[in-house]
Amino acid sequence: GGGLELAMGCNYRLASATTQLALPEVKLGLLPGAGGTQRLPRLIGAKSALKMIVSGEPVDATRARELGLIDEIIDGDFLTGTLAFAHRIASTTKHPVASRRTITLDDGETIFTAARSEATKSRRGFRAPLECIACVEASLALPFEQGLVFERERFSSLLADGQSKALRHLFFAEREATKVPGLPPGTAPRPIERVAVVGAGTMGTGIAMCFADAGIPVTLIESRSDALERASSTLRGNYAASVAKGRLAQAQIQRRLELITGSLAYDDLRDVDLVIEAVFEDMSVKHAVFERLDAMCKPGSILATNTSRLNIDAIAARTSRPQDVIGLHFFSPANVMRLLEIVRGAKTAPEVIATSIQLARRIGKIVAVVGVCEGFVGNRMLTPYMREAGFLLEEGSMPQQVDRALYDFGMAMGPLAVSDLAGLDISWQARKRLSTARPAHLRYSTVADRICELGRFGQKTGSGYYRYAPGSRTPLPDPEIDLLIQRCAAESGIRRRAIGDQEIVERTIYALINEGARILEDGIAQRASDIDLIYVHGYGFPAWRGGPLFYADTVGLDKVHSRIRQLHEEHGEHWKPAPLLERLAGEGGRFNQI
Ligand code: NAI
Repeated sequence: GGGLELAMGCNYRLASATTQLALPEVKLGLLPGAGGTQRLPRLIGAKSALKMIVSGEPVDATRARELGLIDEIIDGDFLTGTLAFAHRIASTTKHPVASRRTITLDDGETIFTAARSEATKSRRGFRAPLECIACVEASLALPFEQGLVFERERFSSLLADGQSKALRHLFFAEREATKVPGLPPGTAPRPIERVAVVGAGTMGTGIAMCFADAGIPVTLIESRSDALERASSTLRGNYAASVAKGRLAQAQIQRRLELITGSLAYDDLRDVDLVIEAVFEDMSVKHAVFERLDAMCKPGSILATNTSRLNIDAIAARTSRPQDVIGLHFFSPANVMRLLEIVRGAKTAPEVIATSIQLARRIGKIVAVVGVCEGFVGNRMLTPYMREAGFLLEEGSMPQQVDRALYDFGMAMGPLAVSDLAGLDISWQARKRLSTARPAHLRYSTVADRICELGRFGQKTGSGYYRYAPGSRTPLPDPEIDLLIQRCAAESGIRRRAIGDQEIVERTIYALINEGARILEDGIAQRASDIDLIYVHGYGFPAWRGGPLFYADTVGLDKVHSRIRQLHEEHGEHWKPAPLLERLAGEGGRFNQI
């Protein structure tokens, strides 16, 4: 970052062989504002500079040498090598100065057009990449001194912008999340050398890849040989796709595949340090599996469950070692999504939590440590979010309008398109399980259940809220669903009306915020920023808005609270303001203190 910018102001740059060089400011919603956008193109050419500045990704010393970013790689003792270099150039009278160099550009304007279109597509809503591009473009159009002025002006504008504040919030949130209050200082993690995953379905297969990718051997245990065969072909297919995209070499794939062993025998669990259960989301199946794990695994091995919503304390109670039981909740696809929700049970031992946090870091995950409740943090908040989406459908919206309004807000996907992707049967099962606990007087949307009753479970059955052409994932509006929604509304005596996008966004996002406030107050989440991390990294909430609670802070809690009160009056009990929100709004407070 700033160090490299300083070095670019020098005549020469030397690096040891292991140096990584980057201008990562874009990741914090900024741009290199100390001359970096003007000097780097003069040193390595506009095209390579654009790539480094817009991606923020590092190059290693060898690549930096090829690009001309550094002059020499110093092997051996750094000081000796540097002094030798200094002696060699000491007699030179004309030393190179980056700012005086002219810029080379082979492809004319096209690289900027291409870069803008790529940034708009892959980093939708982010300002900083576009400003980075404008600055590199300015390095060609303007003399150096004027280029610096342009860069400074763009930098200051980004620095004051809400997006950079949001990204900086997430940067610190990620580091803060690994600190767990109440964990005795010096809690030593247990060594994890061998891992097993039980259940080689969608999640189990992805979780196995997380470990193989980090070089950790993993055994995948199944009850059915056909499931094991399917998992093996999924693994090969996923890795082959990475090779095709140029992300991994064939040799790396081979090595990773060798680290994953399939098995039908629970006996293979005897020596593992950690086992993660990812079998069907059914309490009786989970109980049976944990009883077997308890009987089979060596003392001290960690028994984890990937359950999305079930009570981890009840699972732990089926074992003779509840202190070793923990929730490790991965998100789908597990090898891609960066979030790991670590769910501590009432009896989980401190070192089991510490081990899980350390392990998450080894496999490149972002963590949030949460407590036990229905759906933990992420899925518990999803419930009111989806509830409002269902109500909005009944009151007058169509799926495509709800999804587009939230996509335009910045969500990676709209809630109904996400449900079609995840499988509508999964949430249907959870609703059925919880139906007896639902107070009868509370409003309930029947739309989702009706869709499931038609056997429409989303993309996997070719239809859900939308229909899908064979082999396509593009959601197409379906008149049959429009009619179904109208019928549900009529049955509930609802007169449909025109609903604006702003109402859609407020009702869904404020529902997240209100539930987030309750979770915080209940102590299920340790801090507001953990909830923000969960939503950004697990649920596609736009990072440049900082997460739902940070977003609420930027809107102003008094405004959020007064809108929620209004919704409470109009729509009843579901919208009862969370006491914490009420208190903070009254005090002029915030969820996140920054
Ligand atoms: P899945 O149905 O794709 O896979 C479950 C696998 O477990 C099947 O291959 C089945 O043969 C195997 N299995 C069942 N009983 C077994 C036993 N006794 N021993 C060994 N293997 C057994 O299910 P999926 O979607 O992978 O979900 C697994 C768990 O992960 C569930 O608890 C689910 O709630 C949770 N989860 C699912 C997410 C998703 O998006 N699918 C996201 C996060 C968590």
